[in-house]
Amino acid sequence: MKKINIAIDGFSGCGKSSTAKEVAKRLAYKFIDSGAMYRAVTLYILQNKVDIKDEAQVLSALDAISIDFRHNPQTGKSETFLNDVYVEEEIRKMYVSEFVSPVAAIKAVRMAMVAQQQEMGKDRGVVMDGRDIASVVFPDAELKIFMNASDEARAKRRQAELGEKGEEASLEEIVKNFRERDLQDSTREESPLIQVPEAIVIDTSDLEFEEQVNKVLTLAKEQI
Ligand code: C5P
Repeated sequence: MKKINIAIDGFSGCGKSSTAKEVAKRLAYKFIDSGAMYRAVTLYILQNKVDIKDEAQVLSALDAISIDFRHNPQTGKSETFLNDVYVEEEIRKMYVSEFVSPVAAIKAVRMAMVAQQQEMGKDRGVVMDGRDIASVVFPDAELKIFMNASDEARAKRRQAELGEKGEEASLEEIVKNFRERDLQDSTREESPLIQVPEAIVIDTSDLEFEEQVNKVLTLAKEQI
């Protein structure tokens, strides 16, 4: 059977990663959460007090960073490792969310991440979610999805996710973070978040998770 690449872009908290992960599982494809890579770089920068305005410091940080995703056979999930250290939970915390967009706007950071992402998808059979997947990482992806959802729907989902991990955040705080990131991500100079003309839009505000997954799977199967 022919293998394709599936690009899922969109605003923060629309369910891109959870949908992409499930679609990949059902197609036996590789799932790559590109946001986790920008989050891991951000964590490194915060932990090592790298001055993001100093290009030399950013470049040497990038040289020192190795990010990989490892499958956990116990949970069946893919987990993020930064320099061989498990960071899957740490990178999802609010203090990282609050600093990730300025880091992701740095050209050198994007060039390094995009090169790794393109390498991961070169044999196809990848579902990758992010902001610039259809426009920059895989402009030749056979299926391009753009996800959107209301502020209320995405904040409630994110609050529940954080709550499961024992982190409390108010809906207002979450919406504020989404809006700030969306604005920075869509207005930055380097590969901003855009909806490419050929993308198929899915609004997940009123969709059950299973419906989201099935919509993408149906579209994928038309291409396979
Ligand atoms: O997907 P997630 O919300 O975890 O992404 C965190 C941040 O990483 C985004 O707000 C954005 O600044 C950045 N990002 C990006 N390009 C991608 C994926 C994420 O700039 N492809």
